Amino acid sequence: MERIERLLGALTVTEKIGQLSMAAAARAVTGPGSQRDLEKDIRSAAVGSVLNAWGSAEVRALQRLAIEHSRPGIPLLFGLDVIHGHRTVFPVPLAEAGLFDPDSWEQTARAAAAEAAADGVSLTFAPMVDVARDPRWGRTVESPGEDPWVASEFAAAKTRGFQGAGLRADSSVAATAKHFCGYGAVTAGREYASVDLSERTLHEVHLPAFAAAVAAGVAAVMPAFIDVGGVPMSANVPLLQGWLRVRQGFHGVVISDYNAIPELCAHGVAADLAEASALALRAGIDIDMGGSAYRTGLSQALDRGLIEHWQLDASVRRVLMLKEMLGLFDRPYRGQEAPVPAAATRALARQVARGAITLLTHRRPVLPLAAHLRRIALIGPLASAAQEMLGPWHADGRAEEAISILAGLQTALPRCRIDSSAGVDLTGQRRGIAAALECARAAELSILCLGEGSAMSGEAGSRAELGLPGEQRALAEAVLDIGRPVIGLLTSGRPLTLPWLFERADAVLATWFLGSEAGDAIADVLTGTFNPTGKLPLSWPRQVGQVPIFFAQRPTGRPARAGERLTSSYLDVPATPQFPFGHGLSYSSFALRDLRCTPRSVKAAAAIEVSVSVHNESATAGEASVFLFVRDPLASIARPLLELKGVRRIALAGGERGSVAWQLPVAALAFPGVDFEPLLEPGVFEICVGQSADADGLLRCSIEVVP
Ligand code: NOJ
Repeated sequence: MERIERLLGALTVTEKIGQLSMAAAARAVTGPGSQRDLEKDIRSAAVGSVLNAWGSAEVRALQRLAIEHSRPGIPLLFGLDVIHGHRTVFPVPLAEAGLFDPDSWEQTARAAAAEAAADGVSLTFAPMVDVARDPRWGRTVESPGEDPWVASEFAAAKTRGFQGAGLRADSSVAATAKHFCGYGAVTAGREYASVDLSERTLHEVHLPAFAAAVAAGVAAVMPAFIDVGGVPMSANVPLLQGWLRVRQGFHGVVISDYNAIPELCAHGVAADLAEASALALRAGIDIDMGGSAYRTGLSQALDRGLIEHWQLDASVRRVLMLKEMLGLFDRPYRGQEAPVPAAATRALARQVARGAITLLTHRRPVLPLAAHLRRIALIGPLASAAQEMLGPWHADGRAEEAISILAGLQTALPRCRIDSSAGVDLTGQRRGIAAALECARAAELSILCLGEGSAMSGEAGSRAELGLPGEQRALAEAVLDIGRPVIGLLTSGRPLTLPWLFERADAVLATWFLGSEAGDAIADVLTGTFNPTGKLPLSWPRQVGQVPIFFAQRPTGRPARAGERLTSSYLDVPATPQFPFGHGLSYSSFALRDLRCTPRSVKAAAAIEVSVSVHNESATAGEASVFLFVRDPLASIARPLLELKGVRRIALAGGERGSVAWQLPVAALAFPGVDFEPLLEPGVFEICVGQSADADGLLRCSIEVVP
């Protein structure tokens, strides 16, 4: 602290503003206008942090400029979007969420942090913990899905993983929980659009993951681009100051999103950069990513009396504190070396990638692939598209190090002839359907590699239709018409509405964007080397008209009843999703029995022991996932039909029985009261356990909370 006060006291106002300004290097372009005279700005101490620079040589050179050639000699922070891996690319967050395994989430963040830190990165703009219930929104791919409990577990695990035992460690990077908050609820799923949320939904759905990240010690938080009810998040005093800093006790750094402070003018709440900067600083935004607003606007805001010097100092102090915590003052080049991806990291990538693959349908027994197969047709624009496997936000991930579906299958099936044909391209042309059909006719089985390219989701990747882009459906239907067995592999950043494919194909798997090891992981599942475990972290809609769709619906006075008018349903499509949250088949089949909840009557400070027996009814060893939900049927505020409180995974040999159990604290049955503080109301609660959120498949028992 002494060092920080000394440094702060020695800085001019311009240099203080420099500490709050983050400029972009040219290595990756993730925002407008990222080409700047970076070196000149570093020498003049006009920037205190840099984004999109990595590689130890480049980072060292820039750091040296700051240390040796700028007057204050304060080291720079280097920030990068290390979202799902740095050089070794892991599955996209939506895919990884489907493992429902905090240990895996933490391990991949740990491995990504080690690679990124060795490459000079000290700060990642991750984890992204926005709850996503509308798959039109492209950033669904970056999110842990629809559920606030999952998002909270994900936020905590990723924060632990990125930050490790402490920020000073060579292999740690500072984490940024983003995008605070409600970004997943953009109007009609349209990127950057306005958000209008009830305070209740904000508190029940969108804020818990940020509270979990703060509790896990996250170093930074990034406000979202959007406005919530007319108040842009980059100027949102009640949420950034009131909720985040005061109620959650967050003392870390708040970093704006790219160019979000100047965009306060476009939002219509600031007349110029001085006003925009003042609004942002007063809301507690310490770092201006993009850097143009604070550099131009803050000194004018001081001159005009819109902000005071103590407010500027408070932000500079927090930025210097983060640098101190990272150990940058003592070791500005900490841990940097030419990184070589470790074999263990690739092995982890394969393990997590295969674990994330979700078997959506298996209508006829085509999987695992029969050992006697001698000729397979691999058809579709994603069959040999190594680059696309990396998905959006792949940092230093390299196409030449990624394994395509074709390459993975060729390695796994050396005695099988695999003919590959794209058939059509991703977005437009029917170039080679005839050749693809020839391939399919000559094969015993076809595997359709369909879906989205990596640029079709992620930031600014909203889509109004959730079907297959381009001419892929025509290709797929022509292959299905041949009448031979067909397996569909869906590469995508969101659920795709393909009822016709689910109806006709023998099996369909969601493979999302699995990263560097995609092809090997897919081959592991198709050949049965690995029995699928992936479960959907969101409800998969039948039609785009059903979105937003999620299991934690509130009850209606007129629940949906098939075929009955005047109920909460659609005339043209069932109200239920194509596949419920938690869905994911396995080559084994599991049955749950004997749900026990004890004691049946419990006091507020106690816990409920919940257990259920799990039977692998098949001859194949596999792993089941069991979901614990609760339902509060009578409360002062209507509660959702189901609320997730836990997930357990259990590996069982063929025919084996086991059980899973939870100690559910009664406090977990509380909900935000009228003041949004936790409120536990005595009364009856239902404990519901199942293999997905499908209400028909749940075992239920009741307990009573007594005063
Ligand atoms: C804009 C994105 O919204 C944010 O998630 C990202 O971290 C920044 N650009 C930096 O690339």
